[in-house]
Amino acid sequence: MKKIIIAIDGFSSTGKSTLAKLLAQQLQYVYVDSGAMYRAVALYVLQNNLTNGSDLKTDQLIHKLPLIKVTFENNKVLKSSEVYLNGTNVNEVVRSMEVSNVVSIVATVPEVRQQLVTLQQQIGRQKGIVMDGRDIGTVVFPNAELKLFMTASANIRAKRRYEELAVNDSNLSFQAVLDNINLRDHLDSTREDSPLFKANDAVEIDNSNLSKQDQFEQVMKLVNSKLES
Ligand code: DC
Repeated sequence: MKKIIIAIDGFSSTGKSTLAKLLAQQLQYVYVDSGAMYRAVALYVLQNNLTNGSDLKTDQLIHKLPLIKVTFENNKVLKSSEVYLNGTNVNEVVRSMEVSNVVSIVATVPEVRQQLVTLQQQIGRQKGIVMDGRDIGTVVFPNAELKLFMTASANIRAKRRYEELAVNDSNLSFQAVLDNINLRDHLDSTREDSPLFKANDAVEIDNSNLSKQDQFEQVMKLVNSKLES
């Protein structure tokens, strides 16, 4: 059976990873959450005091890059891959607001991007992969057979993210989540190296008013047409 690369890009909290996981499960493909890799590096930054308030100590981070090993391991119970930083499972902690608040800045550093893109390309060498992120269809796999670009209104995205995070954080405000999403949209789309934009050959999916099931069915039609071509 032919194997393809499915690249899913889009704004934060548009449900990229939910869709990517479903696709990988259905197709028996490997799922890679590239955002989790940037988040793992951001966690390293926090753990090693490589920020001064909102300023990143970029030179020190670049110097430390060879010491930062980001890997994925399969959780056999949950049947999903989880991100590790230097051998420690950081899958949960990388989702925290502390990490969310610095990750977009960390992701502007070209040396960080270079290291992670090389790793992503190695993981995708065998095809049969679904990867989500911001530059997957434009930089990491410009020849991916199927490229999706996901959008939804900022308010709807903040509501989804807030409901997810508020379970573990009763002090969290909706406004803080919305502000973080707006800021990350801005940083992700305007950074110099590999900004977020829709590749010419990507299919845009606005899921503001689309159920997960309808979205999945729409995308599976696209996948099947690529597998048959
Ligand atoms: O998808 P996410 O919200 O977990 O991504 C976290 C941050 O990482 C996001 O603000 C931008 C950055 N990122 C990136 O620059 N390139 C990618 N391929 C994936 C994520």
